[in-house]
Amino acid sequence: MIVEHEIPTSSLSPAQQDLRRLRQFVAGQVLGQDLLIERMLIALLADGHILVEGAPGLAKTRAINVLSQGIEGDFHRIQFTPDLLPADLTGTEIYRPQDGSFHFQMGPLFHNLVLADEINRSPAKVQSALLEAMAERQITVGRVTYGLPELFMVMATQNPIEQEGTYPLPEAQLDRFMLYIRIGYPETRHEREILHLVRNEARRKGETAATEFQPLSQAVLFAARREVLDLYLAESLEEYLLQLVLATRDPGAYGAEFARWLQYGASPRATIALDRCARARAWLNGRDFVSPEDIQSIAPDVLRHRLILSYEAEADGVTPDRLIGELLRRVAVP
Ligand SMILES: Nc1ncnc2c1ncn2[C@@H]1O[C@H](COP(=O)(O)OP(=O)(O)O)[C@@H](O)[C@H]1O
Ligand SMILES: [Mg+2]
Repeated sequence: MIVEHEIPTSSLSPAQQDLRRLRQFVAGQVLGQDLLIERMLIALLADGHILVEGAPGLAKTRAINVLSQGIEGDFHRIQFTPDLLPADLTGTEIYRPQDGSFHFQMGPLFHNLVLADEINRSPAKVQSALLEAMAERQITVGRVTYGLPELFMVMATQNPIEQEGTYPLPEAQLDRFMLYIRIGYPETRHEREILHLVRNEARRKGETAATEFQPLSQAVLFAARREVLDLYLAESLEEYLLQLVLATRDPGAYGAEFARWLQYGASPRATIALDRCARARAWLNGRDFVSPEDIQSIAPDVLRHRLILSYEAEADGVTPDRLIGELLRRVAVP
């Protein structure tokens, strides 16, 4: 399943070994969603936030819960609902009648790992409060600014099916998510394993779980992030990832139809994300250099929410994923 495990543990750094343990821990409880697990870990290593999109019941919430159990730090789940208010995320000033003063009661965003569940069920104002905090890593209330913790990762989920009574995320702010991950139904063999796993869990209810997992410490995580930043990226590959992002801004160079379909390309945030995520993927898979495949594999998740397509594209039935696929085929690989 996870092919990278062929790389012997002995050649991995201690941080790489710890991350491998974490990956196995999550994979033992979220079956047949290896790509999702890899992407969650990549974002964690690249210090980014993620948006996970998929039909109900595909273990989006579960995957994020399990990952959070595997990491030292406080975790909070926020269920997004139509009546949620921005202050329900950020916090509120509370009046103290004893001495006539105000003091700030921190909201649930002041946690290390935040699950923003079903983010498209809250209106734009609430979504914006979240997206702002994600980008700025601080929250301003009145005249005071409060910093968020050094480890701060938002993992949001959304369901693409239920359109009624939901609010699409603001396109212009979506690039605060480092990765936009789409997941699909598990394969039949995994479906059977899921059935057995969940049945056993139901039986064991109340008993303590058999597997004790020592959560990954934040110190290890920060060490891992430094190793990721130090990883070797060949100059030719740096050029390649730049060309991929630039292609979204000058699409005409790759074919007249691209120019018609693409209204806005990706920003420098995309370039930075592609660099960090490609490195994180290589590191996570036990390599000490980035390969073209690292870049190609992660590019759709980095780019799909950063492209604004034209009406012509919609009329032609062209999706961001198809466009990205075409660009990957046409931009020359070094
Ligand atoms: N890949 C999977 N591995 C393990 N359990 C799964 C998997 N997919 C679905 N399940 C089961 O289905 C339930 C629904 O998952 P949940 O995380 O609530 O879905 P979502 O948030 O995507 O709607 C989980 O609690 C779990 O019991
Ligand atoms: Mg859910």
